[in-house]
Amino acid sequence: MKITDITKIIDPTLLLKATMQSFSSNAIEDILAKLPITPEPDYRFNSKNPVETWKEGKLHWYPVGADRGNAGRIKLAGSPENPIGERIINAMEALIELACQKAMILTPNAPLPKSPRDAVRHYFGLPSLDQLPLDAKLMKGNRPTKEVTEIAERIKIALRQEGKGKDYTITVEDDGIGQTASRMHETLLSLGCSDKPDKPYLIGMFGQGGSSAFAASVYSWFLSRRSAELPDHKGGGVGWTFVRQIMPVGRRDVYWAYLAAGPDGQVPRLPESAADAVGFNRGTKIGHIGYKFATSNQAYGLYSSLNHLLFNPILPYYIVTRKDKESGKDKPDLMTGNAYRLTKLKREKKDLEKKFDNVSV
Ligand SMILES: Nc1ncnc2c1ncn2[C@@H]1O[C@H](COP(=O)(O)OP(=O)(O)OP(=O)(O)O)[C@@H](O)[C@H]1O
Ligand SMILES: [Mg+2]
Repeated sequence: MKITDITKIIDPTLLLKATMQSFSSNAIEDILAKLPITPEPDYRFNSKNPVETWKEGKLHWYPVGADRGNAGRIKLAGSPENPIGERIINAMEALIELACQKAMILTPNAPLPKSPRDAVRHYFGLPSLDQLPLDAKLMKGNRPTKEVTEIAERIKIALRQEGKGKDYTITVEDDGIGQTASRMHETLLSLGCSDKPDKPYLIGMFGQGGSSAFAASVYSWFLSRRSAELPDHKGGGVGWTFVRQIMPVGRRDVYWAYLAAGPDGQVPRLPESAADAVGFNRGTKIGHIGYKFATSNQAYGLYSSLNHLLFNPILPYYIVTRKDKESGKDKPDLMTGNAYRLTKLKREKKDLEKKFDNVSV
């Protein structure tokens, strides 16, 4: 009933590589053309009996959150930066959760951090980032600024523009806890099923922030691999799927769906050896293709808008929105929020007041 072994259909290493390099709708459609997928009008999802129209040996477009009426909740985001902010926060939480789970293995009865900032102080030794420019103490023998760049390496956001229609693509990659293939449908592709509300050291709680990015994208791709440091990674493989909007023929109620391998909603599982071959060790990688920015200023202004939106983020991260003029290589910017930037200016005793000397009133 389930395509448990997609490797018989497509080389998993090639599939992983091609997915990680998919930055345009054309690239996604090239991959889709090679896969056995039931055309969407032939699979009518029935939550009471998802097997009803399921075709053996095929992948199916399965509603996100197993909810055929998911459009209302997915379309919640206002401006296009908001879903990117949600994804970045999820990535920070994935890093904290990994650190917390590892600590719990070593000391099962240790008290849990009381807040996200408490967790960051405890597991990463970082103060509130806005205090960092004033904090001269060494961290793990490093200058705080060096330590910050090392932590920031673990969350990378990139903006690209590729393909015939010059699609914008946003990728969000973290080196956090990751999810097993068998749980991706209950986590990354669920709706309203957060696993965070009982954890005071995390931020999320509604189970829908990340999904708001689907509404801003033509396609999305997902790869996730549970950290090998946790016992539940065993046999977890690497989860892989694509997400897109479905417009049912003759109906007005669109919905968002992902490629599922079985009628229980599980995504295809690729072997961990394929991930090893492409250097994907753990965490989650997400691509949002055909991202709907209103203008190129809005797209390339992400450095400013995200520093404003995540004013004093709990963890630093990197963003790539530009290339180095000489080498043509990506030029990543360290993101620490405007609160950090303001403290730094204050420490350097730079005048923050704007002067309008040449303006005659
Ligand atoms: N980067 C990630 N790594 C691992 N798991 C993730 C990641 N992002 C999301 N998840 C999983 O997917 C679920 C849904 O994420 P989503 O952002 O939609 O909701 P949430 O973070 O739980 O709550 P909120 O709606 O308040 O953001 C999370 O509860 C978590 O289990
Ligand atoms: Mg979230």
